[in-house]
Amino acid sequence: MKEKHPIIFTIFGATGDLAQRKIIPALMDLYCRDLLPENFKIVGFSRKDLSDDDYRIFAINSIENKKENHPQEKINDFISKIHYKQGDIDNLENYQLLAQFLKKIDSELGDCSNKVFYLAVPPKLYQPIFENLSESGLGTPCIVEGEERWARILVEKPFGSDQDEARKLDKILGKLFKEEQIFRIDHYLAKETVQNILTFRFANAIFEPIWNKDNIEKVELNLYEKNDVSDRASFYDGIGALRDVGQNHLLQMMALIAMEDPKSMLSDAIRDSRGKLFSNVKVDKKDLGYFTRAQYKDYLNESGVEKNSKTETYFKIKLGVKNKRWDGVPFYLRSGKALAESRSEIKITFKDKKSSVCQIDGVCRYNNMLTVNIQPEKTISLCFWVKKPGLSLELEQKKLSFDYDENPLNVADAYEKVLFDCIKGDQSLFASTYEIATQWGIISEIFKLWKNIPLHEYEKGVDPELLDKK
Ligand code: BG6
Repeated sequence: MKEKHPIIFTIFGATGDLAQRKIIPALMDLYCRDLLPENFKIVGFSRKDLSDDDYRIFAINSIENKKENHPQEKINDFISKIHYKQGDIDNLENYQLLAQFLKKIDSELGDCSNKVFYLAVPPKLYQPIFENLSESGLGTPCIVEGEERWARILVEKPFGSDQDEARKLDKILGKLFKEEQIFRIDHYLAKETVQNILTFRFANAIFEPIWNKDNIEKVELNLYEKNDVSDRASFYDGIGALRDVGQNHLLQMMALIAMEDPKSMLSDAIRDSRGKLFSNVKVDKKDLGYFTRAQYKDYLNESGVEKNSKTETYFKIKLGVKNKRWDGVPFYLRSGKALAESRSEIKITFKDKKSSVCQIDGVCRYNNMLTVNIQPEKTISLCFWVKKPGLSLELEQKKLSFDYDENPLNVADAYEKVLFDCIKGDQSLFASTYEIATQWGIISEIFKLWKNIPLHEYEKGVDPELLDKK
């Protein structure tokens, strides 16, 4: 349902790459599809000296490729709702001026608006923003005729750079804002193909009896990227692949594959179930031999990278889950930049069972495999075996497959879903405080272990399967 009260959407880091590539295009699309209230405003906040008109030009450029079939009139209307306020993230006075500016908009609208504050800035800037939002009163919802409006904070990942920093940030956040005001983004959770994992698992009763250690041999989660880090090297250096996508996107996908049925689709139930799974994830030092850390050749020449940087641009780790369902099943997580292709996928390999058919050629190696292709293909497919037509008894492999691209128009963009759910107040696809703490717990264990393993070098464009063999 469309929110009936006005909304002011403030973007910190308003002139950055994220605002340009993702946030403004997603807001434009939601607005043009009538999913935002008529009284909707965007306020860009950043250090650059820009006028409203300058920022509108920035916005027009950012939506250039996304206008699709939206009427020009509606797009113009959207652009007219954009404002800009210059300010310094560390300066409380600038937040007080921002608060006055939002009040002025409210008095023109004749209402008190709901507020979203999007932190599209590096994590090291979170703390001053949290504190200044709170100090300036911007984070406090107003009350109109006894009815409370809302003020929500959208935070990007990684939330902190290790367990201690995440705890410290959470402590500050927890003091200043209530859990229901905080929306920690993991845009993978909002991808249509990732959201479908829970539906697929729990709406099809045939999978539950085989979804366990007795039937599953291994689970692999891969997030491969062709791009290198050249356009964001200074952000990436010192963070690395494990913090950038392992602590969040890959662990969240693992949770959806491995968690127990949340018993309801309410956000608390889903987040609790994911969090419980994280608390059972185990890192075993006996598995160190399965770990890989690597950096692509020339990484050190990227502008913004430290001279002797040991930041990994590729990793492979092995995790286990200590519970009745999964004990002993390996979960392999891999990700890297500058690889041969961009592909995100989850592969679940089932165990072989001895049978008369499987002995046809004397070997049992007919593992069935279920693959969830997250992108670029958006499919779920099951590999199974059939009799090859002919006079002799031979087996051949076939696929049962479901493809989202058969209906591409209905596949929502992940950022649109994130923004839409935040406005609705639905936190299912956002990580809770507990999830973040337990995710960092896992990553800290890995950091302790892999200090002792060498950093390999790999050629740009390498096939990731070859890296595994190092
Ligand atoms: C982001 C990471 O969270 O996810 C990037 O910071 C990565 O480094 C990106 O490229 C991958 O997301 P997607 O949606 O392009 O697969």
